[in-house]
Amino acid sequence: MKKMKITASRFLLAFSAIALSAAPALAADRSGKEVVDTVCAACHTTGKDGAPKIGDQAAWAQRAAKGLDKLTVNAITGVRSMPAHGGQAALTDLEMTRAVGYMVSGGKAADAKKAVKSAKQRSGQQVVEERCQECHATGKQGAPKLGDMNDWKPRLKNGVDPLIKSAINGHNSMPARGGLANLSDAEMKAAVEFMVSKTGGAATSK
Ligand code: HEC
Ligand code: HEC
Repeated sequence: MKKMKITASRFLLAFSAIALSAAPALAADRSGKEVVDTVCAACHTTGKDGAPKIGDQAAWAQRAAKGLDKLTVNAITGVRSMPAHGGQAALTDLEMTRAVGYMVSGGKAADAKKAVKSAKQRSGQQVVEERCQECHATGKQGAPKLGDMNDWKPRLKNGVDPLIKSAINGHNSMPARGGLANLSDAEMKAAVEFMVSKTGGAATSK
């Protein structure tokens, strides 16, 4: 009962933060530790329903063997008695990624802005199709549109490298790594080059 109340108020908090913002997916920006302490610890401290315990490196190492990406996807979509998003639909994929990184590393994890290593290297086109075009196809929230040279031209005046940097670190309402912390620097570079080359601009980053 006590847990239910905490969960409900967390949800309301997160929900009001979202309601106040025009950019739901970007509203919250909690660290892995914050998410784990407030949401995941409820089951993962005690091992409730068979949840792997925080700090049980053997249990986590075994699960992480299937790849951090797969673990993260399972935590986001839910698996057996693990509820999707730990039962908090308001948590963003990025926050979930950070929380998983934090738990798997036993709390040593990963600076929030740093990518976890990708299990496989996706091509620029794959990354763009899987993630970036969600905003960049339509120009959502002012994103420069794929294939629209007028949108990209002013941004390209200093070349492609600064664009890669801002796509990795985030830039105004452009979320760091497009909101997916598990995209590597190499994947981000490939994605930006793909986007920029589609406009007819020269994709020549070093
Ligand atoms: C209501 C209880 C509950 C909460 C809250 C919860 N988990 Fe879980 N979690 C579980 C259980 C149970 C499992 C084991 C599922 C299984 O493998 O059968 C699990 C498994 C996992 C796994 C391993 C998945 C795999 O593929 O092996 C990850 C990663 C995970 N949880 C992350 C999280 C994160 C991150 C949060 C917080 C945002 C969270 N969990 C909150 C119950 C919970
Ligand atoms: C949630 C929406 C969203 C997603 C997903 C997204 N972007 Fe963006 N992106 C934006 C917005 C909005 C801007 C414009 C930000 C600004 O300049 O104010 C932007 C700008 C950019 C820029 C230009 C930055 C600059 O310095 O001018 C690049 C490059 C970029 N995005 C790359 C990517 C890549 C690569 C991905 C996929 C991994 C991606 N974006 C996914 C919304 C998004």
